[in-house]
Amino acid sequence: MAKLNDGDSMKDKGLRIQGLSKTYPNGVAALKEINLEIPRGMFGLLGPNGAGKSSLMRTIATLQDADEGSIYLDDLNVFENKEALRRTLGYLPQDFGTYPRTSPLVMLNHLAVLKGIGSKVERRELVERLLVQTNLWDVRKSNIDTFSGGMRQRFGIAQALIGDPGLVVVDEPTAGLDPTERRRFHNLLAQIGEEVVVILSTHIVEDVSDLCPRMAIMGEGRILVEGEPQEMIKRLEGRLWKKIVAWDEVAAIKKILPVVSTRMVAGKIEIRVVARTCPDEDLVETPPTLEDVYFATLEKHGVQVEWD
Ligand SMILES: Nc1ncnc2c1ncn2[C@@H]1O[C@H](COP(=O)(O)OP(=O)(O)OP(=O)(O)O)[C@@H](O)[C@H]1O
Ligand SMILES: [Mg+2]
Repeated sequence: MAKLNDGDSMKDKGLRIQGLSKTYPNGVAALKEINLEIPRGMFGLLGPNGAGKSSLMRTIATLQDADEGSIYLDDLNVFENKEALRRTLGYLPQDFGTYPRTSPLVMLNHLAVLKGIGSKVERRELVERLLVQTNLWDVRKSNIDTFSGGMRQRFGIAQALIGDPGLVVVDEPTAGLDPTERRRFHNLLAQIGEEVVVILSTHIVEDVSDLCPRMAIMGEGRILVEGEPQEMIKRLEGRLWKKIVAWDEVAAIKKILPVVSTRMVAGKIEIRVVARTCPDEDLVETPPTLEDVYFATLEKHGVQVEWD
């Protein structure tokens, strides 16, 4: 059994990842000595494409092995007890692949059988509750392969919640959803009990700021920073400056100022700069957001992101 920190009570544990590394056979080092403590509640894993989020989540879900390191869920050594982990896991993969030509009613019932819920009555109650909760009741007998993206993701979370999981892993669940469906999905996630460890990966900053009391930013296989979103934002206070410029000025400005992001504001370009003191008299101080934290963190660690 791994040494867990200083006799914490059970409720303070959660998921503990220690020294996790993974290099794929093609030589890509997707995870590089990941150390992370994820308490109960919603945890946001934010990172650009290729950061290693799905690799980490698949490893937590025991779908792939790491080269090195360990994962504990409370006192459970995950790699040595994969079956036990799977029994308490709800997993929504990033790519669900093809959808069955069957209804959510039939599919959820089938998955509940696989999860070991033997009683027919219990299963029916559970499936009906999940269909209502995910707003799929009216389409419970329709084919899943005819569903819109939002409906598919709601079905995805319904199947992940079968059997009262203690660990829920959802990999980029809001990508491609319209604002209404995204809000619906957020509401569903927010209903999962506080005693469950929920890990949400995303590259959408608002997913994290809306939902997660704790988060980490990942880039190029590493955890770059970890903590509370509000705390991270606070650390940038008084250090963020902005200015509206013309398109053709951007490249030259980037050479002399530590620009962390550029964005369109009413058809013009706003540059945002992190510096301890005002680096140029044309710049005005501006309150930081979680998006600024995200870009500033990637910039600081030299993680390349395409934003213009
Ligand atoms: N099965 C695999 N074999 C080889 N390389 C892989 C495999 N899966 C992922 N990779 C590579 O590992 C790196 C991390 O990929 P991963 O899918 O974990 O990132 P991600 O953060 O989930 O990205 P995205 O936001 O695009 O989903 C990438 O360079 C990717 O190309
Ligand atoms: Mg991914």
